Amino acid sequence: MSVITSRLDTSAAEYEARRAAMLAKLAELTAEQEKAVGGGGEKYVDRHRARGKLLARERIELLIDQDSPFLELSPLAAWGSDFPVGASVVTGIGVIEGVECVIVANDPTVRGGASNPWTLRKTLRAADIALRNRLPLINLVESGGADLPTQKEIFIPGGQIFRDLTRLSAAGIPTIALVFGNSTAGGAYVPGMSDHVVMVKERAKVFLGGPPLVKMATGEEADDESLGGAEMHARDSGLADHLAADEHDALRIGRRIVRRLDWHKLGRRPGSAEDPRYDEDELLGVVPEDLRVPFDPREVIARIVDASDFDEFKPLYGASLVTGWAKLHGYPIGVLANAQGVLFGAESQKAAQFIQLANQSRTPLLFLQNTTGYMVGKDYERAGIIKHGSMMINAVANSTVPHITIVLGASYGAGNYGMCGRAFDPRFLFAWPSAKAAVMGPVQLAGVLSIVGRAAAESRGQVYDEEGDAAMRAMVEAQIEAESLAFFLSGRLYDDGVIDPRDTRTVVGLCLSAINNAAEPEPAGFGVFRM
Ligand code: COA
Repeated sequence: MSVITSRLDTSAAEYEARRAAMLAKLAELTAEQEKAVGGGGEKYVDRHRARGKLLARERIELLIDQDSPFLELSPLAAWGSDFPVGASVVTGIGVIEGVECVIVANDPTVRGGASNPWTLRKTLRAADIALRNRLPLINLVESGGADLPTQKEIFIPGGQIFRDLTRLSAAGIPTIALVFGNSTAGGAYVPGMSDHVVMVKERAKVFLGGPPLVKMATGEEADDESLGGAEMHARDSGLADHLAADEHDALRIGRRIVRRLDWHKLGRRPGSAEDPRYDEDELLGVVPEDLRVPFDPREVIARIVDASDFDEFKPLYGASLVTGWAKLHGYPIGVLANAQGVLFGAESQKAAQFIQLANQSRTPLLFLQNTTGYMVGKDYERAGIIKHGSMMINAVANSTVPHITIVLGASYGAGNYGMCGRAFDPRFLFAWPSAKAAVMGPVQLAGVLSIVGRAAAESRGQVYDEEGDAAMRAMVEAQIEAESLAFFLSGRLYDDGVIDPRDTRTVVGLCLSAINNAAEPEPAGFGVFRM
């Protein structure tokens, strides 16, 4: 075994300062997550309960196996937008009758559960996770359909929700709709496109057009129940396969449907697992508040992998990228982690070779990001930093083993791409509260704008406005800093959630387990490597 020897001094003032800063960020994270849990607020929650209905999270809790974990995805969706945090839908992976399923539950306490642009992104991401990892998808439906004031953002792309449902079914991945309430217009296609449909008696309302629209269109008088009630759909239209007596009954029927799927995972089974040798609580004191200060990612690896056992690959070469083999909850993984932040030519070549090796042995990869990007400057350009970086990006883009990315700290420039950022389709991507991502740092970005502005003024023969420049810099720096923070990025669905560093091992373990529902992916064919 090659157990990592930790050099983290937990009695140092520096450790305490880092820990205090991380705990402060976690307190903010909890406050934001509570907003999502609070849904539409007391008034709408009380009204919902007074109608004898369960909240979205209560429905999920009753649907999944007792005391089993629910890996909630993107609870901060819509953060920093005009819409409530959480985006009026709860999504995640839960275990039902021993089967890992993707669950999508509308939150009807938030604007009637209507879908805004962030709801749409979150819902589509959930379907993508179901498809790529071969997880049955369960919709807990109660929604006012499209958020009408923002229909221009969602109507046309929103069709993908229905396309995805039938593509899942065609791929042999079951889709189930439990309809608790309103599911009108486009929303009616959620049960319409699902393999199994359960409707709650006297509660489900599924019609293409509600009574007012029917009256306008044809003059016909109709009430909700005769137009789209659960009884009608169970007895007459045949859209409902099961008529549930109440919400609890619908959830019971949903569990029974999953049990009958006789679902088997097609991927690897984990081997035996051993806890890390170091306390995961210490992860709170690893990342410095100032991300310009480097930290050793081995301190993170030591606290997340089995027995802290890590076989490092090429430790003496390209030392600012740590690569090596480990197991996590009994699953073999390859780890790529930035050490000093900057990626040079050697690091890029080492990464490309390591990714090829992982593909040869079909080993999933875990990317731990803390990078300021690829090195710039005359010497580096001459030595071919572009082609070396391209080689690494080629390897990441074409690698077919599952990737999981955790943004620990900085994620700037093309380092975000080479280390498997969102655009490179990792199966899952989570961020620590310390994460920051942007095209470059705020000071550098404002500085670039200032240099460009100054040169433009000089070429026009004008005197450069120094005061205006200082104000512009301050404004741009503040804007870029705000836009690079973890909550903001999570709000835009650039990750699957911001997690407590102490949960990293658990979250990655749940992801690896979910990933193995799908069969092993086909081996990779890489693009032409520019050597
Ligand atoms: N777009 C935007 N806002 C919506 C909405 C939608 N599709 N549906 C509901 N809301 C808003 C309501 O205006 C209301 O806002 P307010 O409390 O600030 O006044 C809030 O969400 C709650 O709606 P309310 O009607 O009080 O809730 P309810 O639980 O009694 O009824 C619905 C929920 C969904 C049945 C009802 O709101 C409805 O019929 N909405 C329109 C459905 C529709 O035709 N959608 C078009 C689909 S393409």
